[in-house]
Amino acid sequence: MMTRPITSPGFQARVLSSVDAYYEAVSASSDANAVPYPLIAPLTPEDTNLVPDDTMLSTMICCTSPWIDLASPDPVIAHVSRQVFNHEVAYAAFCGVNNIMIQGPNLEASSVISQYARAIWHSLEVGPYINLQILLPMQPTEIKAAQDGLSLAGRARDSFKTLQSVATDALWSWDTWDLIRSTCKYHPRLTVALEIPQKLPSSEFQSRWFSEPLRTLMIPESTFVHNAKGFPVLNKPIQALLTRYMRLKTVPWIILSNVGLIPGQDHPGMPVNLPSRSISPELPTPAQSQSKRKQQQQQKPKDLTPYLSYMRHLQRTQPPRPIIDRFAAGYQDFLQSPLQPLTDNLESITYEVFEKDPIKYEWYERAVAAALKDMHKKLQRPIVVAVVGAGRGPLVTRCLKASASTGIPVQQWAVEKNPNAYVLLQRRNLTDPLWNKRVTVVKTDMRAWKGPLLSTDPTTPAKVDILVSELLGSFADNELSPECLDGVQHVLHPEHGISVPTSYTAHFTPIAHPKIYAELLGRGDADKDKWELPYVTMLHQYDDLCISAATGTPDIQTAWEFTHPLPPAILQQSALRRGGSVQAGGSGMVGGDGWNEHNARFCHLRFTASSRGVCHGLGGYFETVLYTPEDKSKKPIELSINPNTMEEKSKDMISWFPIFFPLKVC
Ligand SMILES: C[S@@+](CC[C@H](N)C(=O)[O-])C[C@H]1O[C@@H](n2cnc3c(N)ncnc32)[C@H](O)[C@@H]1O
Repeated sequence: MMTRPITSPGFQARVLSSVDAYYEAVSASSDANAVPYPLIAPLTPEDTNLVPDDTMLSTMICCTSPWIDLASPDPVIAHVSRQVFNHEVAYAAFCGVNNIMIQGPNLEASSVISQYARAIWHSLEVGPYINLQILLPMQPTEIKAAQDGLSLAGRARDSFKTLQSVATDALWSWDTWDLIRSTCKYHPRLTVALEIPQKLPSSEFQSRWFSEPLRTLMIPESTFVHNAKGFPVLNKPIQALLTRYMRLKTVPWIILSNVGLIPGQDHPGMPVNLPSRSISPELPTPAQSQSKRKQQQQQKPKDLTPYLSYMRHLQRTQPPRPIIDRFAAGYQDFLQSPLQPLTDNLESITYEVFEKDPIKYEWYERAVAAALKDMHKKLQRPIVVAVVGAGRGPLVTRCLKASASTGIPVQQWAVEKNPNAYVLLQRRNLTDPLWNKRVTVVKTDMRAWKGPLLSTDPTTPAKVDILVSELLGSFADNELSPECLDGVQHVLHPEHGISVPTSYTAHFTPIAHPKIYAELLGRGDADKDKWELPYVTMLHQYDDLCISAATGTPDIQTAWEFTHPLPPAILQQSALRRGGSVQAGGSGMVGGDGWNEHNARFCHLRFTASSRGVCHGLGGYFETVLYTPEDKSKKPIELSINPNTMEEKSKDMISWFPIFFPLKVC
């Protein structure tokens, strides 16, 4: 990508002289109000050398004039700036330009930034295919209107200069951006070009920009330092920032500015520093070629584009992406409705995706092995194990493996309501050498299952010792648990029965996610429920708004917990309410008979935002304790998708993405 101006210096001179002529007319007139504001006539061939048939247009970022001031408090300057801007955008759109970069506003007063924002909004309508990038500094230093004689800002009258001020707040640029994009209703063709300073702002502000639609990273020469050999390099924090920003789904372009001329482009006579592909017509003798090689080594050509070479070097030496990133590459911030595995019968391919998880099944095997050992101490007989919601059988395999590794015999059951998965389960029982026809497969809704019929008494259903299930959603209780597990608890041994998992918790935190918010806004009003439903999504381009001062990590708080098995009295009361009889009390909260009210939860949590921002919704996660061994020296076996604990509890688990609860008004 290359940048180029839309208009020429001649146009700039024409505009400035028309402003000067206006001021002269005003001072010569007895009534200043009688002099009309300057009008800028349409572009002439002298004003621009951009032409529609330019083959490079798709790789060009055209820049609107940086010498205008759309946010000027002087109405004359704002008026002229708007005309220049409109001429430039309209002509660039006419020529078929795809990308336009616009200098961000340079004043702090929000009343004038809104004028700037309005001009941007109009220009988005002028060019229906143009993508606009607003160039803003990541770290605002002294933000002053350019006062030189070649800019329109320099011609603003003194009486209008009172609003000018110096921005010291690190969030100034972001506030400015937020105002512009809110005015433009999170327009999908409006993005940021961020200028990277040598000294980066704190990680909090780096994350804030990460969540925004970064189209370009502008790295000026002044951001580079020189290493011991005199080569330009970027410091370590900037390298880390680039690594992070380059993992955005829409990878930002990097533009180097003020790094000198491009050989062969700016100076057609200069050699281009690229290896020659031409083949010499005469083959050299071996002696000739050896001496040539020596000669070449001695006079290593000077790198004419050291900044570019360094950026290419960084690109080549990027660290590999974490497993979860590689797995989820296509799913980042992609909105999915949570699965409905009770109403729907999952496809084989969906099970296959679950089964790719390198961690989840391993952890289940450990949990079942620990539960088997504890159970075996109490019962000197084979342990009855049932996997409820067995799918294609991966947890059944893990139970059998746990039995083999502990040497504790099991009587294995697999319960599944999906008739298609049931076919596979039966086949697997016949063909899988580990299963070896030892598994009893039952096709039923687990809530209707009477329990295992053992060979010792084939007429009376027995009780299950260990009930294994994987029914959790991204927010723990948003799929099949806890209702299905409550419904099957009657088959679990009332004294010593173990449920794997034994408990799970839901967690959430406020986040900024402009990308998802923009997508939901863009869906239009036909999608009536779009703000009312949670979405499962691999949250990626977001910013945690509340960071714990103590740990420096996101403040992700626990909403509620569920445990299994439930105390029998709770289930007895639920059964009583289900019938709606006289003893059942009144009806439930939402008009039902109240059988499920023991599973209702609410919470009221307080979060403190570390700095100002926009909360677009809540990021939700879960944690679960699969099993806590009775031996207190052993740690509980847990799974987690909570970013604060997942590394420690179940690093590299990929089965669940987080959940996002959108806020309509943010
Ligand atoms: C999330 S999948 C887990 C499948 C498998 N355990 C695994 O880890 O790949 C949940 C399974 O539970 C089954 N299921 C859901 N509700 C059920 C119910 N009430 N009774 C029996 N099976 C059920 C679904 O059909 C699905 O196969």
